[in-house]
Amino acid sequence: MSKIVVLTGSPRKNGNSNRMAEAFCEEARKLGHEVARIDTTAVKIGGCRACDACYKNGQPCVFEKEYTPIAEAIEASDGIVLAFPLYWYAIPAQMKSVIDHWYSFCMAGKDFAGKKAALITCCAEEEIEVLDGAKFAFEMTMKLMHAEIVGEVLVPGVGGVGDIDQTDGIRRARELAARF
Ligand SMILES: Cc1cc2nc3c(=O)[nH]c(=O)nc-3n(C[C@H](O)[C@H](O)[C@H](O)COP(=O)(O)O)c2cc1C
Repeated sequence: MSKIVVLTGSPRKNGNSNRMAEAFCEEARKLGHEVARIDTTAVKIGGCRACDACYKNGQPCVFEKEYTPIAEAIEASDGIVLAFPLYWYAIPAQMKSVIDHWYSFCMAGKDFAGKKAALITCCAEEEIEVLDGAKFAFEMTMKLMHAEIVGEVLVPGVGGVGDIDQTDGIRRARELAARF
């Protein structure tokens, strides 16, 4: 059994990326994994200030208390899944703010070695290359942090809530759970 942290990044509760995240979580729990789902759009957190004071007061970010339980969940996990919609060819701001705080892991000499990682993302435009920016950021980040990427579910062509049902996204997100 693995501990998996699923970070979601859409304010649309029933939106496309959250539906795929839910399918992943359901299947992962069925397979016996312990899943913690964290909605980054509900986390009040600003950007990294690059103050280099990480952990100086005992918490990973000296300014952002709300980041502490997220950092602890990630540290204790065996796997990390990022599930978000594409915003302006990139990772949406609230999820990016959480990721920016991973800088504190680097400052403390911590990485994701031994952890698995996967990406679930979607966008309205039809061409798969539209997702390249987010995919690149995910892959380089996980490479730098020494995580093992076990899968990516990239779904273009879904704009409205419910559009994901016209694709194989939910099935692929569910199947991703078997890779953890
Ligand atoms: C602020 C914002 C920026 C977006 N930027 C893009 C974009 O650059 N390319 C694209 O194809 N879709 C873009 N979209 C559309 C969403 O990626 C798309 O509707 C997606 O299915 C939303 O996923 P969700 O239902 O999980 O929120 C954007 C949507 C919003 C609200």
